[in-house]
Amino acid sequence: KSHVERHTYKGVPLVAHIKPEAMDIIRDLDVRDDDVFIVTYPKSGTSWLQRIVSLLRFGGDVEKTDQTEIDVIVPFLEEMCGESATLREMREAQSPRMMKTHTRFDQAPLQLTQGKGKAIYVARNPKDLAVSFYHFHFMVNTLQTPTSFEEFLQNFIHGEVSRGAWHEHVLGWWQHKDDSNVLFLRYEDIQKNTRKQVEKVSEFLQWHVTPEVIDKVVEHSKFSKMATNPATNKVEGKEVKAGIFDTSRGTFLRKGVVGDWTSHFSDEQSQWFDTFYREKLGPSGLKFDFE
Ligand code: PPS
Repeated sequence: KSHVERHTYKGVPLVAHIKPEAMDIIRDLDVRDDDVFIVTYPKSGTSWLQRIVSLLRFGGDVEKTDQTEIDVIVPFLEEMCGESATLREMREAQSPRMMKTHTRFDQAPLQLTQGKGKAIYVARNPKDLAVSFYHFHFMVNTLQTPTSFEEFLQNFIHGEVSRGAWHEHVLGWWQHKDDSNVLFLRYEDIQKNTRKQVEKVSEFLQWHVTPEVIDKVVEHSKFSKMATNPATNKVEGKEVKAGIFDTSRGTFLRKGVVGDWTSHFSDEQSQWFDTFYREKLGPSGLKFDFE
């Protein structure tokens, strides 16, 4: 890819295809009580939660859930707010609306941050996240291709990637983890015990389902199932059609594991990351189990 333009919104870098005007619309959004927002820093488990929430919504009915592409069932707020036609579509959508967004707490829909609607925040350890984000930069036409992993890590740690500094994003939401309309989850916990986290989501949304439904949600949100499912693997999805993803240069559902960082980071890079994030996260009590 040749040089890719990037812009910022209130000092936070944004991928080229997200319009800064859309961010203003997001901030002023009319939130409904039963809206569900899946909120993440990129590459933290957004798609996994999109799948879990969609399956819960349809009572574990996989045929029904698979009739529509995941990004249509749970659309990307930033994209929907970027065009008047999709904005209208979203304003007129049936309840409960389900949306995904990568907004920081201080740039999220104001009403959501004041307690209206529900936010499920998913956080992932920064090492695996950085590896995932690095690979993602090759397949997204609106992101600059990294020249090396080291260069990418430098940009990532200094917040010179889309959505800015990861620790600011995650800490902004972590500070609100006890708000009654916020559920804070970790990617690593979902890996360790998917069922428990799915139950948490169902309780939080007050979408009560039977244990059999939970079984189906767990089964059909597995990485192996999502990677081979055209409704979830994004190979024919919205972003491929819009020319944003180039699947000849990467796979969206890439590995889906905890610990892939060990095959990318040198010892030096690993120590540098540990020191940097220990200092940033230490006082907050936010920890990740990924060694
Ligand atoms: S995005 O572009 O921000 O919406 O990406 P996001 O979905 O947040 O993150 C993509 C990474 O999540 C992994 N993933 C999963 N892991 C385990 N199980 C399931 N079901 C699952 N679905 C998505 C996906 O593979 C990306 O991580 P990496 O490490 O690159 O494989």
